[in-house]
Amino acid sequence: MSEKDQQLRALALEEIEKYKQKVEADPYRQSFHHMPPVGLLNDPNGFIQWKGTYHLFYQWMPFDTGHGAKFWGHYTSEDFVNWTHEKAALTPSEWFDKNGVYSGSAVSHDGLLYLFYTGNVKDEQGNRETYQCLAVSEDGIHFEKKGVVVHLPAGYTAHFRDPKVWKKADHWYMVIGAQSENMEGKAVLLRSSNLYDWELLGSITGSNEEQLGDFGYMWECPDVFELNGKDILIVSPQGLEEEGMNYANTYQSGYFAGILDYAHPKFNHGPFRELDRGFEFYAPQTTLDEKGRRILVGWMGVPDQYEQAHPTIENQWVHCLTIPRELTWNGEQIIQKPVEELKEMRGPVLLHSSITIENDQKAIRGVEGKPIELNLEFDKVEDQFAIELFQHASLSYKEGILTLSRPHLEDKKKTEFRRVKLEDGLKNLHLFIDHSSLEVFVNEGKEVFTSRVFPQPDEERILFTSLGTTTFSIEQWKLNGFNF
Ligand code: FRU
Repeated sequence: MSEKDQQLRALALEEIEKYKQKVEADPYRQSFHHMPPVGLLNDPNGFIQWKGTYHLFYQWMPFDTGHGAKFWGHYTSEDFVNWTHEKAALTPSEWFDKNGVYSGSAVSHDGLLYLFYTGNVKDEQGNRETYQCLAVSEDGIHFEKKGVVVHLPAGYTAHFRDPKVWKKADHWYMVIGAQSENMEGKAVLLRSSNLYDWELLGSITGSNEEQLGDFGYMWECPDVFELNGKDILIVSPQGLEEEGMNYANTYQSGYFAGILDYAHPKFNHGPFRELDRGFEFYAPQTTLDEKGRRILVGWMGVPDQYEQAHPTIENQWVHCLTIPRELTWNGEQIIQKPVEELKEMRGPVLLHSSITIENDQKAIRGVEGKPIELNLEFDKVEDQFAIELFQHASLSYKEGILTLSRPHLEDKKKTEFRRVKLEDGLKNLHLFIDHSSLEVFVNEGKEVFTSRVFPQPDEERILFTSLGTTTFSIEQWKLNGFNF
């Protein structure tokens, strides 16, 4: 461990201690979402099940509630409900990562855990340099940095980062989020036989390539994997214009499905589809666990999208991760469902098997408070239906369109909206409500809305409104939350 590394760790621990009381007293602290102990959290990193244990790392800025020289924070779990907050895995201690141990991924090889990440460096003039780096661990807790394994190739700007590594047949592959010198977002593929020496294969798809027109000036956090016979590329493009109900956030996150031709290499794929319709979702990462499930965790935040307006900033922390979701392919699209282990958080069920509301607004006995999970199955939605949460956010359905609204985070007098068209109407809503977030799985996971919400902490009421007749069943569970 270098001296700089020790110094940074000591300073981060001091910072945790200094703000501990303030952070923990914040009523917006979550009960089942990963948060930083102090400072800012962004992307999930290095997500893997290794020797039975799930490791979930995250981008962490301990010294500020803004972005900067990131650490890798580290949580572990055997079961997705009981979590241990480990000491930081990586600090920005070396010349090749001194301005940030940026995002990356993990693989297991020969009994060791390999972390690939981007070393972010700013020179004296403030110009950016980027290095793809490796760190290796024998115990999953202590990581030895091995230095730079990939240098910036010709043709790209220094916005070249976020290595995601996987194995296919006899080779390792790495996909990197990049910006070409023509300011186009790209997904770049590299190959290795030993995890140390990497050969550049080139861009597999990107803005202004083949099927795609102009599609953003930078692609962040790519992830490539197979899902029921399809190759999927998840990516977070920057620079898309809002288009109807699509691309409403500052930056997007979604996927292409198709076939990756590893020999050429080229990714032949269909259209981009957003993974989430809510206000806060970005830079998701997946892993394949030992049960063969493809599991995704995202950052419940968006860069540059009024991050400083989050009310938790005054208590010296900001952002959290999403709950883990299992991905499947239904023949047409990705389906997302919360991992089944989360049922362990449930208290006893409260069930109302047939509720009819007709031109009225009602509370439903016992349905209130947070943290809770709600599951609604609709028999009939004649005209309009809405759920109003804590006099704050609302989820409403009308003429095939589901809308989430909340007070604008920056300008509280305004309301902001996110919408999606539901091709099969409204069949089911599955909500996970924490102290300051809402995740809504719609129609068995065909659409998801993920958002931070900041209602008055003691406000518990949930109201249901129908114009015309709506008939549904509702189940509610109070949630015990994670054991952190
Ligand atoms: C995405 C991102 C990544 C980068 C990291 C830095 O949110 O900008 O591209 O590696 O965050 O924290």
